Amino acid sequence: MKQVIELKINGGGYEVAAEPRDTLLEMLRQLGFKGTKEACGMGECGACTILMDGVPVLACLTLAVGAQGKEITTIEGLSAGHQLHPVQKAFVEQGAIQCGFCTPGMILAAKALLDDTPDPGEEDINRALGGHLCRCTGYVKIRKAIQTAGRMMRSDS
Ligand code: FES
Ligand code: FES
Repeated sequence: MKQVIELKINGGGYEVAAEPRDTLLEMLRQLGFKGTKEACGMGECGACTILMDGVPVLACLTLAVGAQGKEITTIEGLSAGHQLHPVQKAFVEQGAIQCGFCTPGMILAAKALLDDTPDPGEEDINRALGGHLCRCTGYVKIRKAIQTAGRMMRSDS
């Protein structure tokens, strides 16, 4: 049976009717946050990654009811108006985007990494990208973009 739940998404409050088994991914897309991609739906590709209280989470494996009271950040919440987040800028500058399907999840995972580890090494980046599949770029440009974003964020702070 559906119940009305409240979700905090990108700083705004949303009420949505959800079944106990509905995933956060379904609710986000229903609310129009379609930057959160659905691909495998089984926790294997990382395309549905969002941040929950700053931590990367797979929205396809998260129940919407369990997301109540948490701060949810989707890719739509990353830029400040027309001002792209440094990670977004770096992905564009480094050509780390092709079809773009994996990109929102990659960028959010990268943001969480850089918030925690401002100057990440190769291993930190590999760990952050673990579970994120990209069929297009070959990962080299994505890694470079994360290093570039780290430099941008360090010089801004
Ligand atoms: S859609 Fe969630 S991990 Fe693939
Ligand atoms: S850019 Fe196409 S899947 Fe990554």
